[in-house]
Amino acid sequence: MEIARTIPELRQLLAAHAKPAFVPTMGNLHDGHLALVKQARLLGDATVVSIFVNRLQFLPHEDFDSYPRTWDADCAKLQAAGCDIVFAPRETDLYPEPQTFKMHPDPALADILEGQFRPGFFTGVSTVVMKLFSAVFSGHAAGVALFGQKDYQQLMVIRQMVRQFTLPIEIVGGPTCRAPDGLALSSRNGYLNETERVEAVQLSLALRTLASDALAAANALPAQLPGLEQRALQALAARGWRPDYLTLRRRADLQAPQAGDTGQSLVVLGAARLGTTRLIDNFEV
Ligand code: PAF
Repeated sequence: MEIARTIPELRQLLAAHAKPAFVPTMGNLHDGHLALVKQARLLGDATVVSIFVNRLQFLPHEDFDSYPRTWDADCAKLQAAGCDIVFAPRETDLYPEPQTFKMHPDPALADILEGQFRPGFFTGVSTVVMKLFSAVFSGHAAGVALFGQKDYQQLMVIRQMVRQFTLPIEIVGGPTCRAPDGLALSSRNGYLNETERVEAVQLSLALRTLASDALAAANALPAQLPGLEQRALQALAARGWRPDYLTLRRRADLQAPQAGDTGQSLVVLGAARLGTTRLIDNFEV
């Protein structure tokens, strides 16, 4: 496994390859990331994983400084998973000057849900992903990039960016990996104390309940949904959580379902804080 610290080093390592398969990460890798790496190996002729904690996608009060940096453990996991190249730029390599030129995704998609509670988040994500894509794929006629479906809205924003800029990159979504109790794997799960870790699965259970209540409402869904969502929020809050949103949306555009939208076209999404840890999850209904 090779390690590239700079964009020229990365491009040199990739020069002999026709189709890079790329997994962008912020490190602190778990089995969800490693499943993407294994999937990537089947899709390209060089598997590249980036490790970069992107300041641009954190709000000032968020956990940029404390975000776990676990370089040695990450490299050992990537080596075992068959990664070919780790791209781990320093901040000054990826942002050699202040990044005044930013990607601004469609507010209809990016200013709702996560974007409502983390303003600017998807601008930060899209900007760094565009920079990483440029580092990895420039000079290549084809490439694949893999993202976890746990960050459902992020995956949609990236798909739209790639489509609208006609980038020659196939975007592949990998299924959410879960702990045996059903908790979605996340780098932030490590923030949970023992009691919180036991409680954490309740977010996914609340989403499952919301999904089944919504399906039971059938034709009356648009009218009943606000009440069902409110009930889900209150149930989680009663357990000590501080939920941001628990909601049922259309998979196509993450807007509220209309009469006639069927179960297969919907997704439940949620974000809530347990103690100081903010968790997100989703299920396609
Ligand atoms: O999902 C993540 O880990 C990050 O948002 C990403 C895509 C690596 C961009 O920093």
